[in-house]
Amino acid sequence: MKRVFIVIVYLWMATAIVLASSCSRGFNVEFLNNRTATLHLDSPCEQTLWLPIEDGAPNALLTVEGSSLMSVPMRVRLAVDTVEYYMPLRLEATTKRLLIENCSFENKVWDCLHLGKKAPLNVTSDLRQQLHFTPSIGWINDPNGMVYHDGEWHLFFQYNPLGGRWSNMSWGHAVSRDLVHWEELPVALYPDSLGQIYSGSAVIDRHNTAGFGKETMVALYTSKKRYQSQSLAYSHDKGRTFTKYEGNPVLPSTRADFRDPKVFWHEPTSRWIMPLACGNAMEFYSSENLREWHFESRFGDQYGRHGSDWECPDLFELPYGDTTKWVLLCSITKDSEHGSSVQYFVGDFDGHTFVCDTPENHTDWLNYGRDNYALVTWSNAPAGRRVAIGWQNNWQYANKTLFPTENFRGYMTLAYDLSLIEWEGRAKLILRPAIEYDAHFKTIQTEPEMVVEDIRNVYHATQYDSPLRLDCRLEEIDAQIVGLRLFNDRGESVEISFNIAERKFTVDRSGSGNVNFHPKFINPSIAPMSQNGTQQLTLVLDRCSIECFTDIASTSDLVFPSEGYNRIVFYTVGGSAKIKDLKIRKLQ
Ligand code: FRU
Repeated sequence: MKRVFIVIVYLWMATAIVLASSCSRGFNVEFLNNRTATLHLDSPCEQTLWLPIEDGAPNALLTVEGSSLMSVPMRVRLAVDTVEYYMPLRLEATTKRLLIENCSFENKVWDCLHLGKKAPLNVTSDLRQQLHFTPSIGWINDPNGMVYHDGEWHLFFQYNPLGGRWSNMSWGHAVSRDLVHWEELPVALYPDSLGQIYSGSAVIDRHNTAGFGKETMVALYTSKKRYQSQSLAYSHDKGRTFTKYEGNPVLPSTRADFRDPKVFWHEPTSRWIMPLACGNAMEFYSSENLREWHFESRFGDQYGRHGSDWECPDLFELPYGDTTKWVLLCSITKDSEHGSSVQYFVGDFDGHTFVCDTPENHTDWLNYGRDNYALVTWSNAPAGRRVAIGWQNNWQYANKTLFPTENFRGYMTLAYDLSLIEWEGRAKLILRPAIEYDAHFKTIQTEPEMVVEDIRNVYHATQYDSPLRLDCRLEEIDAQIVGLRLFNDRGESVEISFNIAERKFTVDRSGSGNVNFHPKFINPSIAPMSQNGTQQLTLVLDRCSIECFTDIASTSDLVFPSEGYNRIVFYTVGGSAKIKDLKIRKLQ
């Protein structure tokens, strides 16, 4: 009797919803039970279904039947009580039905799904940046597949196309001709039966070693399921569409941590080399054709910081004095001191083994800021340059509910030119803003020389309206501390200082604005400082970030002031300093 009653209730509910939705909404919803429904489209065609999202909701499972892109169920935080924002689901003409599982018939989502060109709710944010790439919508983490080809800088990235939190790892895609303006393109790689699409790289196969054709763009990435394996996909249309190789995975494994292939062509041995992150070490594999890979060697068990996974390797050669050195980049997810950071090792690589010069018990950090992770370099960059970009975030707080942005989440760092300098008898890796930025900044203020004792105003605009770049040299410093403070009219500020006695360069964002979304966000960034009498400083301010470059270090930090900083003062403590060749430029 009870069963009959339940069946009657379901039938009534289903009929009511079908009747209520079919004629006006372009689809109808049929409940198969109280947590599973089929959405039938009235007219299958290329169209957009807007999914109502609530970030704190549990994941529903969405299967897009007939989709050539989403061949496996995707996880979506469909709204239970409140719609926070909408994510677009691009439907193809081959899709007639969607299956939605694990989502109660009582949830808000059913009233709010919307078929149409525009989202029913327009969520805007003033937390976008201009120089730092953000996706128009959705979650991003690591930069992936970076390759320069035919005048385009390709930036693929870890992407959730269906939400603002980490999930459904796919490769999003953007291209730029100047590293300033980015055009976002359709998602390049969606999860498949081999798993999610984790981080990886892309190369141009000049000599057609893989047999997909000369100059083919080949992406190598980690297929993540229970285990992690390496797969490949190739593109004949400049990365606009990819075909996954039918022989995937090309490097299978039964290891849980075996990921982030960063492939490059090793000219002396005429082979491809693939550094891979394997638990707490890096391994190197080689291949003649990108499809068959052989183990070469392992590095790192005795070197650097351990304590959490090693991730996102990169290995490349840079000029050093009148010779060259190899640099191995290694991201470490949750370092006890720095959170997510990139360490690096300098040494030699002969196509088989990495021989490290960095002492075993020493750690070299690539960037001393809190927000620069998973940084890797572009393959095939012009003029022999080594250009890199990182994810401007930290796993400590990136995926936490209170992170200040909503329907888009995640920023990339600036793009950098990399070089080696000699410091304290060893090779030190230095980041500088990529030279491309120069052409986009217009000088608005210069000051050949000024003395600062206590406080000196240097910049005051009525409001923040675009990124600023400040360059100067500090000389004749007899103060204990010399620094600058960026602030807005709400009293929110960031202190950037050289502590001469302690030889420390610090970026303190504890009073920068919204800092309460995670207890670790207030921790300062502390970098070493040279003993030179002169200190060089370049500072790039974007709406939500501050990146600093001294002669031996760099920092990248997110900030969330309620309005952008519009004022800058220099200050000293315990003496004076000379500011030479101050130049303030604005993004035009
Ligand atoms: C680094 C990382 C990679 C992995 C990817 C998953 O941030 O954990 O090791 O491939 O993110 O999104």
